Amino acid sequence: MLAKILSASLFGLETVPIDVEVNLYKKGFPGFNIIGLPNKSIDESKERVKTALANSNIEFPQAKIVVNLAPADIPKEGAGFDLPIAIGILASLQGVVIPKNKSMFYGELSLDGTLRHTKGVFLLAMGARQIGVKNLFVPVDSANEGSFIKGINIYPVKDLKQLISHLSKEEQIAKITPKPLKSLLIEENIDCNFDEIIGQNSAKRAMEVSASGGHNIFMQGPPGAGKTMLARALAGVLPPLSENESLEVTKIYSVTGNIPPGESVIIERPYRVSHHTTSRIGLIGGGSNPHPGEISLAHRGVLFLDEFPEFSRGTLEALRQPLEDGKVTITRAAGTAEYPAQFMLVAAANPCPCGYLGDEKHACKCSPRQVMRYQAKLSGPLMDRIDLHVNVPAVDVEKLIPKEGKIVKPESSKVIRGRVIAAREIQKRRFKGTKIHSNGDMRNKDIKNFCKIDPAALVLLKQAVNNYNLSARTYFRLIKVSQTIADLEGVSKILPAHVAEALQYRIRSGD
Ligand SMILES: Nc1ncnc2c1ncn2[C@@H]1O[C@H](COP(=O)(O)OP(=O)(O)OP(=O)(O)O)[C@@H](O)[C@H]1O
Ligand SMILES: [Mg+2]
Ligand SMILES: [Zn+2]
Repeated sequence: MLAKILSASLFGLETVPIDVEVNLYKKGFPGFNIIGLPNKSIDESKERVKTALANSNIEFPQAKIVVNLAPADIPKEGAGFDLPIAIGILASLQGVVIPKNKSMFYGELSLDGTLRHTKGVFLLAMGARQIGVKNLFVPVDSANEGSFIKGINIYPVKDLKQLISHLSKEEQIAKITPKPLKSLLIEENIDCNFDEIIGQNSAKRAMEVSASGGHNIFMQGPPGAGKTMLARALAGVLPPLSENESLEVTKIYSVTGNIPPGESVIIERPYRVSHHTTSRIGLIGGGSNPHPGEISLAHRGVLFLDEFPEFSRGTLEALRQPLEDGKVTITRAAGTAEYPAQFMLVAAANPCPCGYLGDEKHACKCSPRQVMRYQAKLSGPLMDRIDLHVNVPAVDVEKLIPKEGKIVKPESSKVIRGRVIAAREIQKRRFKGTKIHSNGDMRNKDIKNFCKIDPAALVLLKQAVNNYNLSARTYFRLIKVSQTIADLEGVSKILPAHVAEALQYRIRSGD
């Protein structure tokens, strides 16, 4: 008896429908084989399915069972095939009846017959709807991932027994009720408030400009100056995720298994921190079964790279292309996977290996050679992709201890965020109908189309180019940052004051 169950495999951010064909010969020598390019975890599925069926009071048939995953030429991975294989065996034993409406099954089985949280259900539900699937059966802990996808019945399955009674029309599983996404999106999440940071006014202002225009930013300063605090505060002044952005981000979190059991979509702008020991694949993505890296998990959010010069040259080099393209492409024999990676890079560094070069209170212990080697990493093409460069000097300890009666509370993140959102609204209107999200995304050719520069500001720009011997790259970067400063002020063209401020955030190396 042959049964055919619809399931799916994930490749990159795409789903590929897979037919799970189960053939059961009662005669012949008993056996259990899976064919059609399964990987190791699918092969292990045999043991899980066998034991899970036994623990669900179903006697495993003494028969020759062949499972074919078709089309055979697509490599398949993941444990999601457990459920369709188990259901296929049951169907070929005539133990269950598959609904007439197009139905898809996906999920990993535990040995006791319960279904485990299985990654990728959000993507699966989107893919299933596209190919006209009416019913999708997935583990109860993963089912909420599909709760924003309309036009498909999603059934949260607890265990095999429950699914068997549902399919036998004994006891129905209640399908998930779709929810409106908008109501869930988090308005603000302030982990570190700008009002907790004493002093550092110019660094704070640079953070505001960076958040307003989506510009990458680099901070340099001695240990304990507050660089990590500033980076955390930056995340709290960014605008909330839009619905589309939330779905884009959720796709990536779903395939990487980063959505906790029972949760639905990502409703907060991502803020990822990578340590310099992170491997290149961990940061950029890759692997034989391609998976996204930190830069994709930071898509539409912030990626904070602390101790930037400690990252290996190769890793820093590998960041260049995605920073330019806003995506990562991974090519494998099985095909090409593409992951979006439009993130704001926030990088921090000490001025030298010991951290105290130029500090008034501490002596630097590094040799000139060490300093040179360290700073050499902070030059070249990668730094060219960073629009703002800011010095974060140490704050006097005296200032950190509030004195009675003299406390002037710095501006809060809420106030700053209001200005950031207003500046982003101007950009939204400016770039309507294009793929550009913010001033930081503009290419050089876009600058001509979108930026209006006052003649006096142009004179100042040209003077700066001559006086400081700036490269063409720096010139364009200056215009982009000036545009953001103009937007923050709500002025329709770039004025000399905007250029003058932008000049303060100029990257020193490569100029
Ligand atoms: N300007 C500041 N206002 C308030 N607290 C500060 C400030 N600067 C530093 N601190 C205090 O010092 C601690 C260290 O700051 P932070 O970790 O941000 O420094 P850092 O510049 O990242 O240092 P490192 O180079 O060692 O990583 C903070 O947790 C905070 O308590
Ligand atoms: Mg730090
Ligand atoms: Zn030093």
